[in-house]
Amino acid sequence: MTARVVMKLKVVAARFSTPNVLHLRLVHPLRPELPPWEPGAHVDLRLPDGKIRQYSLCGDPDDLSAYEIAVKREDAGRGASIWAHQTLKPGAIAHVSAPRSNFAIQKASRHIFVVGGIGVTPALPMARRLAAEGADVLVHFCARSKAEAPLLADLREACGPRLRTWFTADGRRFSVSELEDYVEGACLYVCGPPRLLKAVQDAATARGWPEARLRSEAFQATLDENFKPEPFDATLASTGKTLHVPADRSLLEVLRDHGIVMPSSCELGVCGSCVCGYTEGVVIHRDAAIPVAERQHRIAPCVSRARVSVTLDL
Ligand code: FES
Repeated sequence: MTARVVMKLKVVAARFSTPNVLHLRLVHPLRPELPPWEPGAHVDLRLPDGKIRQYSLCGDPDDLSAYEIAVKREDAGRGASIWAHQTLKPGAIAHVSAPRSNFAIQKASRHIFVVGGIGVTPALPMARRLAAEGADVLVHFCARSKAEAPLLADLREACGPRLRTWFTADGRRFSVSELEDYVEGACLYVCGPPRLLKAVQDAATARGWPEARLRSEAFQATLDENFKPEPFDATLASTGKTLHVPADRSLLEVLRDHGIVMPSSCELGVCGSCVCGYTEGVVIHRDAAIPVAERQHRIAPCVSRARVSVTLDL
């Protein structure tokens, strides 16, 4: 598991941003300041069973007296969000890692965000920082309705006229035709469910956006009900040892079974914590963490598999 330092933080405020999104404010009971972070960063929340889930920090990075996260209740999820909603009330202690970022503000002449639902959490501090710096920023925020749009008031306050809302209940559904053609130096950020990411990525490619100017953060595992896992072999480049991965086990599990220490967090192919290199083999990529340009040499062993065999850079 990850070796990141875990802090015991106290919940000092818990309010519902929408009927199913709980917005939490967490402080250190003894220290006045928490470790610094950059907009777009996330923390790991450790659950009582030792598993961890990642949540983007949605507060103000200039205010280190507290961290803020927003947890969407997923009734069909794996239980973490329900546990958080039931347990993390004012006074409760949450085990939270130091922040880490793999979704950061890029150097750009124009910043365009397409945000879906709870995907607003990393986008809010990013847009707030950019707007405060006077950067050229535009945020498209998509949700079912105004009442179901988390952190809407904060985003509105941060962005003002730079915010465009798309609420399907009002007959305003976001269409990828809203996307602009690529202009040299611009950057496009997408955060939300995989379906939104895919639609925007496809439209951006058609409008000439180079992949390097597209940043995305998935907020849900890709559901691929028809996928039938097959067994394969994984060879460790450092020792030449070959491990068999049966159809009912992940590569990550098999590596750990053989004493190989692998970091991980989401175990859903979303966060990128477990990603390692590979040098040979045909990989079946099932994650949403590795950019297409890096898929020829990087694999997310929590969800991805190989056809017949793969040689890992481990
Ligand atoms: S643990 Fe998150 S991508 Fe593998």
